[in-house]
Amino acid sequence: MIENVQARCSIVYKSESVRGQRWQEMFARELPNIDFYLWPETGDPAAVHYLISWEPPENYGTLFPNLKAVFSVGAGVDQFDLSQVPPSVKLVRMLDPDITLAVVEYICFATLALHRDMPDYIRQQSEGIWKKQPLIPARERRVAVMGLGNLGQAALKQLSNFGFDLHGWSRSPHEIDGVTCHAGWKALPDFLAQADILICMLPLTEETKHILSKKNFHYLPDGACLINVGRGDHLCEQDLVAALDSGKISTAVIDVLSAEPPVSEHPFWGHAKVWLTPHVAAVTSVENGYRLFSDNVLRDMAGEPMQGEVNLDNGY
Ligand code: NDP
Ligand code: OXD
Repeated sequence: MIENVQARCSIVYKSESVRGQRWQEMFARELPNIDFYLWPETGDPAAVHYLISWEPPENYGTLFPNLKAVFSVGAGVDQFDLSQVPPSVKLVRMLDPDITLAVVEYICFATLALHRDMPDYIRQQSEGIWKKQPLIPARERRVAVMGLGNLGQAALKQLSNFGFDLHGWSRSPHEIDGVTCHAGWKALPDFLAQADILICMLPLTEETKHILSKKNFHYLPDGACLINVGRGDHLCEQDLVAALDSGKISTAVIDVLSAEPPVSEHPFWGHAKVWLTPHVAAVTSVENGYRLFSDNVLRDMAGEPMQGEVNLDNGY
């Protein structure tokens, strides 16, 4: 298929430059009929059919009149203003199986660490305390996953191997073997009441912004734990600090923040009940990124649907 690409067109890339340069080299080597420009270079704007970006340039719809698709360099598309996506342009997110594997790994690490009381043992060690915490069997630990998409379902499948009491919440109803599924806003309080460990794997939309807030923490069992790998704006950060300080939430494992990197005064840096990682639940490799972008461009040029096309009505 690759040798058969005859039509000329170009791609503009606007994001982190090191990866962009590698992709430029790979496209030049593998698909020489496709010109790959690093923003602000664009070549002839009328020849630009594809834009790859984290945050797109302003007015990209008018800047590139023949644009066919915009690719996000991540699995999420919350950084795009969906109302600005021209009707003829498809928005495509990164559907990388290695992202899913990495997120599942992170979720298992965090869930097991919380389940086996590692925050207590780390503190005890620093205080010279030798004390056994009660060992709770996994079947008595309720793990509740918000978001039953790509990532949520993959994580639940792996967590089921440990025998946890699993719950899931989504917008539309789902049936998943071994998981008690809840759907919609009315079901949220009951779902949260089952969450000894609450895991957020939602996309960030107008509806899900600040879903992890005081109002919803109220429904959690006292001393629940939180893992957030969705987006920083799912969480109302000051509400988490209050919930940790009051004991409503006992520990939070946080991979994503509203502003990344956080300012040096950010309360999570020094908080004894927060485990903070710098948005590393998953990171797309240069090789996978190239394979996914080039495969989708070739699909689109062949008139086939692309993988990861976003439903603009749902917002994810
Ligand atoms: P999907 O689109 O596959 O799944 C989204 C899920 O969220 C669906 O089950 C959907 O419900 C549910 N959902 C969406 N809106 C609502 C709502 N209002 N109420 C209830 N449920 C809702 O996304 P992915 O699983 O691929 O990814 C999720 C997010 O994870 C990404 O958007 C990204 O922000 C984040 N992410 C973070 C990474 C990291 O390194 N920290 C890495 C990769 C992704 P339904 O099934 O009914 O449609
Ligand atoms: C992504 C992410 O969306 O890294 O891919 O969060």
